[in-house]
Amino acid sequence: MDQGRLEPVLVVIPTYNERENLEPIVTRLHAALPTAHVLVVDDGSPDGTGDLADKLAASDDRVNVLHRTEKAGLGAAYIAGFGWALERDYAVVVEMDADGSHAPEDLPRMLDALGDADLVLGSRYVPGGKVVNWPWHRQFISRGGNVYARLALGAKPRDITGGFRAFRRAVLEKLKLHTVASQGYCFQIDLAWRTIEAGFTVVEVPITFTERERGESKMSGSIVREAYLRVTKWGLRRRGTQLVKLFKR
Ligand code: GDD
Ligand code: MN
Repeated sequence: MDQGRLEPVLVVIPTYNERENLEPIVTRLHAALPTAHVLVVDDGSPDGTGDLADKLAASDDRVNVLHRTEKAGLGAAYIAGFGWALERDYAVVVEMDADGSHAPEDLPRMLDALGDADLVLGSRYVPGGKVVNWPWHRQFISRGGNVYARLALGAKPRDITGGFRAFRRAVLEKLKLHTVASQGYCFQIDLAWRTIEAGFTVVEVPITFTERERGESKMSGSIVREAYLRVTKWGLRRRGTQLVKLFKR
């Protein structure tokens, strides 16, 4: 575990058509954590989220925007955001959704936990964690995804698919981010798994996840399929490595 500094903090917020959600979430974040900087990573949202982000950035030095030309998935947006952070002197990099599902009010507690960890996962599935207003089929996909990832990878976290988390800079510096190919939400499993495999300390902190009230989820069948296929591949590779070790003894 790295015992380095915990400031400054950059909160990376990926956006695709989040026009109604962006300003409220940034306002809430700054009420909860006034010193946090924000990087909005917008994939050329047709609804003008990117322009709105530029307006927010023009009136607030803490807000920055990264414009990308096309919708290339949550994973690619975060990798670009992490690269931006590492080019600057941020000590902590946070992932947070734009739609209000992640409560910025939970973030101070998560950052406290980072004092004894390298990666803090905001977790819906540890005692004290909650999901509010999610339809049963989303709960099913999320629970199922977590169970599958635990079985295939032998990973400990209860909520390895969640998207509200805080990394120490050292973690992002060590992981080979340019080799991350996960595009959709399996990016979350990918990064947590890489962090665990690299020997970093990962802890979970309970959060309340509340379904968005405005706009639409970008979850799709192809996002679920990508996660299933990649986790299966990583799981098989892991078993293969275990077998090779067994025979070498
Ligand atoms: N830039 C960019 N590009 N942003 C994207 C893209 C994309 O292709 N796809 C989604 N986003 C942004 C959304 O605008 C939002 O801010 C955030 O990523 C999460 O997307 P949602 O579509 O709201 O996700 P969700 O609520 O269905 O899924 C949540 O649960 C998943 C499973 O636990 C999120 O927390 C995911 O991160 C999580 O993996
Ligand atoms: Mn959402």
